Amino acid sequence: MLRLVRLLALLLALLLGGTWAYAWVTRAPGESLGEAFAGRLALLFGGQQAGSALGGMQLPQGMVLGGPFSLVDQTGKAVTEQNFAGQWMLLYFGYTYCPDVCPTELGTIAAAVDALGPLAEKVVPVLITIDPQRDTPAQLAEYVSRFHPRMQGLTGSQEQVADAARRYRVYYARVNRAEAAEYLMDHSSFVYLVGPDGRVRALFRPEAGPDDIAAATRAQLMRAAAPAS
Ligand code: NI
Repeated sequence: MLRLVRLLALLLALLLGGTWAYAWVTRAPGESLGEAFAGRLALLFGGQQAGSALGGMQLPQGMVLGGPFSLVDQTGKAVTEQNFAGQWMLLYFGYTYCPDVCPTELGTIAAAVDALGPLAEKVVPVLITIDPQRDTPAQLAEYVSRFHPRMQGLTGSQEQVADAARRYRVYYARVNRAEAAEYLMDHSSFVYLVGPDGRVRALFRPEAGPDDIAAATRAQLMRAAAPAS
């Protein structure tokens, strides 16, 4: 019996090690290793499949994303994760000068929130900029209001933003363009569903649609509201 347990432990170690190596090799340009690993693990354990009752990609057991942050909101007020305690967030890291992906994703998040109907009031759509140099509170205020009246835009010092991004394993880097005065930011593009305790409950790939995100969010809200059995 003990030999069987040892064998199974060895197999699991090989599987996880193999997945890590696979994530290392197959990660997309700009995808951090942590994200790649989470993504491959989710695939391995079926987190992305229809079999996952809750929808979205579930984090593997033991992996924690999210947590404390210290930032500045679009009114210039200092905020932390405590300002969002008890609320759910649909969170995205991006920047207002983004030419394509960010506007699409923020539109998707806004549509997902609206698709929640009465549950929408429990969910705050949030953009955390990864370009604090240009994304001042005023710049963010104007930008997020284009997508959803309740969308929050958070910025901060370079260090504050880097710390928040690290907790969500967000990759970002400045890309200078010789032919243009304005730089671009290369960045990962997951949408995070964050629970009332500030921890990530599910993440969504950039191609996830509003209905997918809304369905997964609704499922998580219902599960959290159900009495413990
Ligand atoms: Ni972008």
